[in-house]
Amino acid sequence: MTTAAATDAPKSSSVETPKSPDRLAITDHRTGLSYELPITNGTIRAMDLRQIKVAPDDFGLMSYDPAFLNTASCRSRVTFIDGEKGILRYRGYPIEQLAENCTYLEVAYLLLYGELPNKRQFQDWEHSITFHTMIHESLKKFMDGFNYDAHPMGMLIATVAAMSTFYPDAHNIQDAVSRTKQTYRLIAKMPTLAAFAYRHSMGMPYVYPDNSLSYTENFLNMLFKMPSETYKPNPAIAKALDVLFILHADHEQNCGTHVMRGIGSSHPDPYSAVAGAAAALYGPLHGGANEEVLKMLSEIGTKDRVPAFIKEVKEGKGEKRLMGFGHRVYKNYDPRARIIKKIADEVFEVTGRNPLLDIALELERIALQDDYFVKRKLYPNVDFYSGLIYQAIGMPTAAFTVLFAIPRTSGWIAQWQEMLLDPEQKIARPRQVYVGPEERNFVPIEKR
Ligand code: CMC
Repeated sequence: MTTAAATDAPKSSSVETPKSPDRLAITDHRTGLSYELPITNGTIRAMDLRQIKVAPDDFGLMSYDPAFLNTASCRSRVTFIDGEKGILRYRGYPIEQLAENCTYLEVAYLLLYGELPNKRQFQDWEHSITFHTMIHESLKKFMDGFNYDAHPMGMLIATVAAMSTFYPDAHNIQDAVSRTKQTYRLIAKMPTLAAFAYRHSMGMPYVYPDNSLSYTENFLNMLFKMPSETYKPNPAIAKALDVLFILHADHEQNCGTHVMRGIGSSHPDPYSAVAGAAAALYGPLHGGANEEVLKMLSEIGTKDRVPAFIKEVKEGKGEKRLMGFGHRVYKNYDPRARIIKKIADEVFEVTGRNPLLDIALELERIALQDDYFVKRKLYPNVDFYSGLIYQAIGMPTAAFTVLFAIPRTSGWIAQWQEMLLDPEQKIARPRQVYVGPEERNFVPIEKR
């Protein structure tokens, strides 16, 4: 649209011109009418387009945005990402500072309440989480019902959904006290469910939570303690896992969080919404990528086969992807991947170097120089190196995404609460562009 067209064409304007220069002028060449739409926070409101009609009984203009490439569905105060610059902040704090100085539980508190806790607040918070880690014995039996080779993510999704039947009070979503209680339960019990899912898949007895341990030490203990032996979680591993939990805690409106908000918008209990969000996370294009990266590295096998693999990816034209690479928002190095690369070295000092690391480093080196990846701004994401650490600490590949879901629970709940308290939010219900058949008459089966 040229300026001349915009000024020549108007016959009338159906919105009052705002005083502010923050407005968008639109001319509809179907009618010759011009409109001015207010711009707020770099956005126009899609509903403002509806006044643009070709006739009074016309539905009005809509925007079409499959996969939400350019649509903001909420205003949020939780997490900020500048994908071009590779910046990630929770509640304003750079991820690097939080990873360096905080524990995961402090960060979870920050995401949920907007501020870092003071000492007293942290003690209460940690106590509330620690004392909600046990799960109902019947839930344990529920876990027993899965096949021996059930995927741990499938078990986690199903058992977290089942929790809604154990806590009927969770349906009181408008009650802040009830929401707080479910928050404690979810953040506290996710590691227990995840550990039990792992133990079940390994055919090992469950280990109950130990309240004398920190959040990640307790998780490691539930994962790896053998009943016949004493086990002391390695502090360096527990610390590394804690940092990984910080890095995975929230990531604004990604696929899983969008599902959390979408399910939450019809007002079920939060366990049902978390189950849905975890199911979205499970997919290989999202949190399931960490599992796929390890499969890919193992398939490549040796460093010298990296160039051939990269060639296959490029020739696959999107069919075959370099897992752990690329991101919808980051068009620069994912800041989480940078931190994870550092942690990997600390973990490998304890566990010994993961031999797949050399293949990963070579893949990164070649991809970052290759025109295909450079042009498309494809960089390693959070999942590229995390699996190498999980494998080194003894987790089977199938359990990797569970390690993503545990910390992401705090982000999901923070986003869910924000959605519930936002007076602009309603039940999520996108529009569609119908391109199917026009009305036609039924034909009996004998005549088809
Ligand atoms: N390997 C090879 N090519 C790729 C890759 C990749 N990993 N990612 C994107 N491309 C290409 C894609 O084929 C397309 O090329 P063209 O323009 O020629 O059609 C271009 O880059 C843009 O890709 P897109 O599919 O439009 O990008 P998207 O924003 O829809 O997808 C993504 C983002 C993360 C799903 C994608 O990059 C991908 O599939 N990556 C591999 C899976 C992965 O690592 N996921 C974890 C993401 S981070 C963890 C989290 O979910 O939060």
